[in-house]
Amino acid sequence: HSVAVLGAPFSKGQKRGGVENGPKAIRDAGLIERLSHLDYPVHDFGDLSFQYLEKDEPYMHVPFPRTVGRANKLLSGAVSNAVGAGHTTIMLGGDHSLAIGSVEGHAKQCPDLCLIWVDAHADINTPFTSPSGNLHGQSVAFMLKELQNKMPELPGFSWVKPFLSAKDLVYIGLRDVDPGEYDILKDLGVQYFTMRDIDRLGIQRVMEVTFHHLLSRKQRPIHLSFDIDAMDPSLAPATGTPVNGGLTYREGIWITEEIHNTGLLSVMDLVEVNPDLGASREAVESTASMAVDVIASALGQTREGGPITQESQT
Ligand code: ARG
Ligand code: MN
Ligand code: MN
Ligand code: MN
Repeated sequence: HSVAVLGAPFSKGQKRGGVENGPKAIRDAGLIERLSHLDYPVHDFGDLSFQYLEKDEPYMHVPFPRTVGRANKLLSGAVSNAVGAGHTTIMLGGDHSLAIGSVEGHAKQCPDLCLIWVDAHADINTPFTSPSGNLHGQSVAFMLKELQNKMPELPGFSWVKPFLSAKDLVYIGLRDVDPGEYDILKDLGVQYFTMRDIDRLGIQRVMEVTFHHLLSRKQRPIHLSFDIDAMDPSLAPATGTPVNGGLTYREGIWITEEIHNTGLLSVMDLVEVNPDLGASREAVESTASMAVDVIASALGQTREGGPITQESQT
C-alpha cells in the first residue's frame, strides 16, 4: 500500500488566475512531510505540465473548452497509471474542472467506483444551465450517464464518455446551488447533504447515511473530490468562489476520518486552493494548511495519535 501525489497546476476551468499555484501552496504547507509520518511510502510524482492552446474560441459561453478538455485527458492518463500501479492517489488542483479527468482516469481502473463530492457547489451545470459558462461548475455533468442527452458535444471532450450513475454519487456541504442544478439533482434523485442537512442531522449521521447509500450493497473504491470551498471561508479564504456558512474544521476532519476508516479511499482530489486570492499571507497559509489537514486525515492521520514506531523515534 502506497500513496501517489500528483500536482495539476491548471486554472482554465474558470476565469480567475492563481489557482494553478495551488499544488505549490499545498506542498509549501508541508504536505509531503506530513504524509511521511503515516505508515506507507509516499511517491511525489511532481506536477503535470499542461498546454494552454492559443486558439480556443468559447463554445456558447463556455471559455477554453479545448484547453480544459486536453488538460483533463492528460490528467486522466496520469491518474489511471497511478491507480493501476497500486497507489492511493492524491490529485492536487488546480480548479475543479480537473475532476473530469481525475474521476474518468480512476474509473478506467475501477469501473465500480463511487464518488463523494465535498463542496459548497454541486458543479453539475450543463453548458445550457450554467450561469457563468465556467467548466469547473460543470464537471459532474460530464460524468453522469443520465445527463448524456443533455450535454452538447464540446470541442476537446470527445474522449469522455459518461461512466457514472447518479446513484453512485453523494454530495456533502452544498449551500450554493444554481436553479438548473437543483432541477437536475431532483430529477435524478441524487443523494445530497446541504449545510442545512448537516445542521439538522449532524455530520456523524450524514456520513453514516452516505456510506449506507454507496456501500451497503457492496464494498467498492471511493473517489473523494474535495473542493476546499466546502470549508467555511474563515478556514479557507483563499479560493475563487467562497460561500459563507461552510463546514467547521471538525466537520471537515470528521468527513475525511470516516472515509479513511472505510479502508476504501482510492483517489482524492483537493482543488480550488488559490494562493493569489488570499487577502494576506496568513490567509493563504491557513487555506493551504487546511488542505494538508484534510488530506492527511483522509490518509489515516488520527486525532488520538498512535503508538511508538520506528518512524516516530527518528
Ligand atoms: N455554480 C457556479 C457556476 O456554475 C459556481 C461553481 C463553482 N465551482 C467550483 N468548483 N468552485 O459557475
Ligand atoms: Mn518527520
Ligand atoms: Mn465549490
Ligand atoms: Mn467544486
